[in-house]
Amino acid sequence: MENDPVNVNEFQELARQALPKMYYDYISGGAEDQFTLKENMEAFQRIMLRPRVLVDVSKIDMSTTLLGYNMSSPIMVAPTGAQKLAHPDGELATAKAAAACNTIMVLSFASSYTIEEVASTCNAVRFFQLYVYKRRDVSAKLVQQAESNGFRAIVVTVDTPRLGRREADIKNNLIIPKMKNLEGLLSLDVNVKGGSNLEAFASETLDPSLSWKDIGWLKSITNLPILMKGILTAEDAMKAVEAGVSGIVVSNHGARQLDYAPATISVLEEVVKAVSGAVPVLLDGGVRRGTDVFKALALGAKAVMIGRPVVYGLAAKGEYGARRVIEMLQNELELTMALAGCPSIKDITRSHVCTKQDMLR
Ligand code: FNR
Repeated sequence: MENDPVNVNEFQELARQALPKMYYDYISGGAEDQFTLKENMEAFQRIMLRPRVLVDVSKIDMSTTLLGYNMSSPIMVAPTGAQKLAHPDGELATAKAAAACNTIMVLSFASSYTIEEVASTCNAVRFFQLYVYKRRDVSAKLVQQAESNGFRAIVVTVDTPRLGRREADIKNNLIIPKMKNLEGLLSLDVNVKGGSNLEAFASETLDPSLSWKDIGWLKSITNLPILMKGILTAEDAMKAVEAGVSGIVVSNHGARQLDYAPATISVLEEVVKAVSGAVPVLLDGGVRRGTDVFKALALGAKAVMIGRPVVYGLAAKGEYGARRVIEMLQNELELTMALAGCPSIKDITRSHVCTKQDMLR
């Protein structure tokens, strides 16, 4: 296509041009000072690569597996809600893009198309992200729908007992369209006199009493493996393993929840060490380059997920844009592996990265 961006960051500007300010701000923004938003990306820039030369890199194999499912590369699609804001085809386009790239999409609980509609786009391995509501029956119902529509895992988001303070949304009086999955299950009308209607809706629905003991409840309502999204410390990672999860996602919700939470890449190794191989550890937040993916793998991630870049691709060019974003990152990872002397994913090790500080010692 003409005027194709050459990297993922260029899609952001196209998205900005394509979207009303209220929606662009919702997608791109973070919480409060947006310190963590910047830090998510800058922390990657403090990590340097330690390439090895004279390795046969004539064939690069990026393929990997997660929970036994094959993926063409360790780059997955993070759950992002209300994708119709970005493009009328929303999650349907994203699902097709992820399938075309042979990777796993995590569908958001707050999607603008239903679980059934997304499942019927095409055959592919998909996971379902869960928010636990005060109305446990509503959350349970969606888990069951995901299970009966062939989704293969539940990704429970645990960093959102309440919605983070996203000041752009408050200023813009954000209006989020109704969430399709929830129609008929609970009242979607919220009374807002200005401010963000998402914040008002979240404060009515999200269950701030959710705690470790409730993971037993979640396990009791599904046979699917459960991944826990939103872990940032060794302490919680160990509790998650004890609670019997099948995977951990190191995530700060794209810096949209607790500002001054650490950049995900800076705590990945702590979590990986605490988990010591018991379950796979994924990471999301600030991944914009193939080198970022490589760095996360070197620090022990099994795979990464990308949030905003896919939504920017979708906003700019629909399904094609979402697919290009994934492909670009895959291509960049492939080149990084070649230039760093790692022909396969298992060849990427801790010794392929160091921090700027390490180099001065
Ligand atoms: C999100 N994220 C998110 N997470 C989640 O568990 N459920 C959700 O519905 C949403 N919705 C959502 C909407 C938008 C517009 C964004 C940008 C993010 C967080 C998401 O899954 C992921 O953690 C971050 O987006 C990762 O950071 P990057 O890749 O956006 O930097």
